[in-house]
Amino acid sequence: MRLPDYTYDNDCALQLDEKDDLHHFRNKFYFSGKDQIYLDGNSLGRLPLATQDLLHNNINAKWGNELINSWNQGWYELPETISRKIASIVGAGEDEIATCDSTSINLYKLAQAALNRQKGRTQIVSDELNFPTDLYVLQSIISRSGNNHKLVIAPSNDGDNQVRTEELSGLINENTAIVMLSHVTFKSAFMYDMQKINEIAHRNGAIVIWDLSHAAGAVPLQLSASDADLAVGCTYKYLNGGPGSPAFLYVNKKLQNELVPPIWGWFGEQQPFDFNPQYRPAHGIRKFMVGTPPILSLAAVEPGLNLILEAGINNLRVKSVSQTEYLIFLAKRFLLPLGFKFGSPLDPKARGSHVSLQHPESYRICRALIHPIDGHPAVIPDFRAPDNIRFGITPLYTTFSEIYRAVRRVEEIVKIRLYEKYSDKRNAVT
Ligand SMILES: Cc1ncc(COP(=O)(O)O)c(C=O)c1O
Repeated sequence: MRLPDYTYDNDCALQLDEKDDLHHFRNKFYFSGKDQIYLDGNSLGRLPLATQDLLHNNINAKWGNELINSWNQGWYELPETISRKIASIVGAGEDEIATCDSTSINLYKLAQAALNRQKGRTQIVSDELNFPTDLYVLQSIISRSGNNHKLVIAPSNDGDNQVRTEELSGLINENTAIVMLSHVTFKSAFMYDMQKINEIAHRNGAIVIWDLSHAAGAVPLQLSASDADLAVGCTYKYLNGGPGSPAFLYVNKKLQNELVPPIWGWFGEQQPFDFNPQYRPAHGIRKFMVGTPPILSLAAVEPGLNLILEAGINNLRVKSVSQTEYLIFLAKRFLLPLGFKFGSPLDPKARGSHVSLQHPESYRICRALIHPIDGHPAVIPDFRAPDNIRFGITPLYTTFSEIYRAVRRVEEIVKIRLYEKYSDKRNAVT
């Protein structure tokens, strides 16, 4: 991929925005009118304008007027409609994705089912960069297994927040039941080579479960082509589905018959409205669903997916790499001299769509950035302990000018020690 030649002035940012073929997608999102630079789409994506109308319609016309009839006018099929669109974004077959529950719950369902399938193998392999909920779910499964299962954690390389493939592969053997990793890790954005890890695991008879929360909608994925076994992911980050929107799960066709879901609910039954007292698993992916879908949150997912499909995930990736590289280029010049270090890989092939910068005062710098004073914009990244500021790049709506202004604002806040005016007391959500 050939990247433009960047320069350190604001004109460069303006020119990059002018040449950006995806620039018009920004107009498809809601903006409050405040001078606000939002670099946290890796945590909660912006609100697509189409979602406002769609929710309004679902609340008033459907729930309000049609009430229960709405289930027979599209609501019942909605999970499948959404799942087909997610499948096309993550490179899965149409009948390999179910949209339901939260990422944590989907991980529990798939990890437990995989562990039951892998009888006699006692080891689960993960890494220390994984998101805590993933590790908690694995710990909870092990705590109840009674089979002496053990969680083995691959360490990250000190200093660059990555896990070496050799390090991980050294832990995978004929005793490994599951390998469970985030494809793009939440703090550093380190990205695994999915195909390579699948191959290593399969050679040893292990099943791989990928958490795609920071990957779906951010980087191109080829779940089927890379022979991925299982995956989970959320829809509220790069897919712009809204706060707490339902998650998805992926089960490769080849495993669908073999795996038995650990929770048998009526939405995973062959004919829920037969009200059969004896559970009969639905055929295919639907058996991994459990209860009634949260229709309003589910409906809100579709417009964000439509935008990604329209823009094309490969085009989004090209812009994302160009923007993360631009941020790194500026940070080297303006921020490293002020005591910042990179908390993300510098090789774009090993990086997702956010860049972490580390500084001993990261929390207070974040507080100062978020607070709009004296005509300065509010810059909204987020903080991840102990010392990371994550700058999320969402190419559907992030501009080069925003990146330029954000980096220069960080520089200013540190130079004039403005952060010293802010408390180190942590908010509930950082
Ligand atoms: C990588 C990753 N996995 C899982 C989760 C949690 O997902 P949920 O709250 O949908 O269970 C998050 C939340 O941010 C995450 O970043």
